[in-house]
Amino acid sequence: MARILITSRLPDDALDPIVGHELMMPEPGKHLTTDEIAHSVRDVDAIVCHLKDRIDAAVFALASRLAVVATVSVGYDNVDIDAATRSGVAVCHTPGVLDDTTADLAFALILAASRLLSDSERDLRTGGWTDWQFDAYLGRDVYGATLGLVGYGRIARAVARRAEGFSMRVLHHARRPTGLQGCVIELDGLLPIADVVSLHVPLTSETRHLIDARRLALMKPTAVLVNTSRGPVVDEEALCAALESGRLFAAGLDVYENEPSVNPRLLAAPRTVLLPHVGSASFATRLAMARLATSAAAEVLAGGRPPNTVNPAVYET
Ligand code: GLV
Repeated sequence: MARILITSRLPDDALDPIVGHELMMPEPGKHLTTDEIAHSVRDVDAIVCHLKDRIDAAVFALASRLAVVATVSVGYDNVDIDAATRSGVAVCHTPGVLDDTTADLAFALILAASRLLSDSERDLRTGGWTDWQFDAYLGRDVYGATLGLVGYGRIARAVARRAEGFSMRVLHHARRPTGLQGCVIELDGLLPIADVVSLHVPLTSETRHLIDARRLALMKPTAVLVNTSRGPVVDEEALCAALESGRLFAAGLDVYENEPSVNPRLLAAPRTVLLPHVGSASFATRLAMARLATSAAAEVLAGGRPPNTVNPAVYET
């Protein structure tokens, strides 16, 4: 029997794969702090964590018997992969089960930002809608527009499928050219021709501030930027400046540079739809993610090599 640290309560149905192990899990509604994780990690064989948990070199240094960290997220920038690999710890994540749910949300943001739904709803709720006006809340059409996908993994492709239903022209840019129809080799070539730019890249040292002031200036002034990937992919100060000056038409964001705090300038920015990192937040998908993470942890503990391992090199050592 192994000891598994779970940083916040998971649905009971997600615990089946780790039945028989000793589970250390906080009360419902509670989440372990970084200090609590560090304090408990010494004697655990596995950690099942979330995207907000920083599992860094300091944690690995304290963990004498840790075999696996399974993050209940597809992004794994919260885990120091090099430190994990040096410590011989497998890191698993949850690809494949959240693509459609996240693509639905990205498309909701494309629609909401393009048609200024947050601004108009806020006015209605706060009594600001006093008269119907022919030229109020004029947005940009989504149907027939050109969608530029930055990154072309599973989630981006799921967004592309939805865009076809809206008769959009779909282009994409990926780090390595895909050779597929719609591939634009240079990001700087995609940005000036897209009406909607939707970001689908992991956060790495190369993608931090990928969309900066210079690249925002390459976009059409009528364009809409949507980010459901990771906040630091966009330079938020530069984005605020572009929205405030009208240099960019609108933005739809689900992720932020310093979650859960949100840049006050962004909160005040016009034509902006802001959501609290809910891309994969459906009942079915969150359960599927949790089960995938607990299954991976169980498999590593049983000596297996789950395919959703980020650093499979650890199995060779
Ligand atoms: C959500 O952001 C995830 O990485 O699963």
